Amino acid sequence: MSQLASIVLAAGQGKRMKSSVPKPLHALCGQSMLGHALAALRPLGPQPQVVIIGVGADLVRESVTDDDVVWAVQEEQHGTGHAAACAREALAGRTGDVLVTCGDIPLARTETWERVLAEHRAQEADATLVTALFADPTGYGRVLRDEQGLVQRIVEEADCDEATRAIPEGNVSLYCFKLPLLFEALDQLQPTNVQGEYYLTDVVEVLVSAGRKVIAVVADAEEVMGINDRAQLARATAIMRARINRQVMLEGATLIDPERTYIDAGVTVGRDTVIHPGAVLTGATTVGEGCVIGDNVLLEDSRVGDGSIVRHGSAVRESVVGRHCQIGPLAHLRDHSRVGDGSRVGGGEVVRSTLGANVNDLHFSYLGDATVGDGVNIGAGVITCNYDGREKHPTVIEAGAFVGSDAVLIAPVRLGAGSYVAAGSVVTHDVPAEAMAIARARQENKEEWAKRLPRKS
Ligand code: UD1
Ligand code: MG
Repeated sequence: MSQLASIVLAAGQGKRMKSSVPKPLHALCGQSMLGHALAALRPLGPQPQVVIIGVGADLVRESVTDDDVVWAVQEEQHGTGHAAACAREALAGRTGDVLVTCGDIPLARTETWERVLAEHRAQEADATLVTALFADPTGYGRVLRDEQGLVQRIVEEADCDEATRAIPEGNVSLYCFKLPLLFEALDQLQPTNVQGEYYLTDVVEVLVSAGRKVIAVVADAEEVMGINDRAQLARATAIMRARINRQVMLEGATLIDPERTYIDAGVTVGRDTVIHPGAVLTGATTVGEGCVIGDNVLLEDSRVGDGSIVRHGSAVRESVVGRHCQIGPLAHLRDHSRVGDGSRVGGGEVVRSTLGANVNDLHFSYLGDATVGDGVNIGAGVITCNYDGREKHPTVIEAGAFVGSDAVLIAPVRLGAGSYVAAGSVVTHDVPAEAMAIARARQENKEEWAKRLPRKS
């Protein structure tokens, strides 16, 4: 088997993004453009996967956790040809093929790379480039072919005359080269162009004039679009979103309005789950089977178990919801909270808390740093006072306890199993199991009191 390596160019500034964030780190559907590019290449098994970094190098490096990635630094940015040459050391002594792309082409799919590599090898090409026919090719290098249709060279937009500018076929910056031919050709580049840069695209002309075989594979223009500004990023995001949503639907979930459903790459959704418009599912989120995710619900790095309902406007962040739960409307679960099977949480807030099974916590409560046992009832408006101004303290409510409405539980405090807290109590001491705590001023009725008031006319 011949060897395969890859290079992703990601050292440029991305001026047209008008951003302090390095261009390859701009994200769509929860993953950076660089992350998407690497993910598309990964199934082909390139070793090593070289990434060229420069502007914002540390940030770019930190964004990638993949151990197969080898970094090469381009200290000053003198163009894509100069960038590719920075991979020389990382690939020294290697033969076989190298796939080359840029960190601003996030939609290119693995299938397209497979097609490129297959054609490249079947036709024994020295270089294979991918092109596409653009309705508006502005910004792309134009592909010049001879009478037989063979690729001659690529002319960058800035160097185009009027006739060349009218060519609809653009270079999309997906390439496959024979090693070490690529580096031999890069040695011959000259920065004799309008921008004074070393263009990777000029390698094509160098190879062609040395009698080498350069072929082109034509791809779908939308799939291989390059992202240079925010408007293109938004367009690519919409395409990526449609792709993800289609996949989610094909796997058995119902999206009421796929155009208004926002699911990150990598999120999984079980069969027969119904997702309503405006739902946002991000990060490492997993939704089980037969769930209902209501409108405008946010699920962020969270798990929702089979058969659970998360109603309108709720946010679940870094938390776990068990099976057959009902959450919301307007609930907020966050910071590693867990809700046990069959529990119901209404429009309150649950923070760093663990609720057992079949807990009812339905009306406007705040549970912070709480551990709540199975079958507990939390009345309307119950508050755990977990913060004393300096530190957070725990509240433990054991199984079967009943906490009356508007109770205030001053942490640290423990309510024993099966205990009761009377409505409106301010609980400052532990309550033994099966006991009833009542901690509020006794009611006094002043007979005839109202009659003593001066009469209103
Ligand atoms: C490039 C191609 C163009 C093609 C288009 C497709 C060249 C000269 N032009 O143009 O033919 O149609 O992509 O999207 O190759 N980079 C570096 N170091 C540098 C310069 C750039 O690492 O010194 C990286 C950038 O971070 C970026 C990539 O190379 O990821 C491409 O650079 P960019 O400026 O976006 O090139 P385009 O103008 O899009
Ligand atoms: Mg670009």
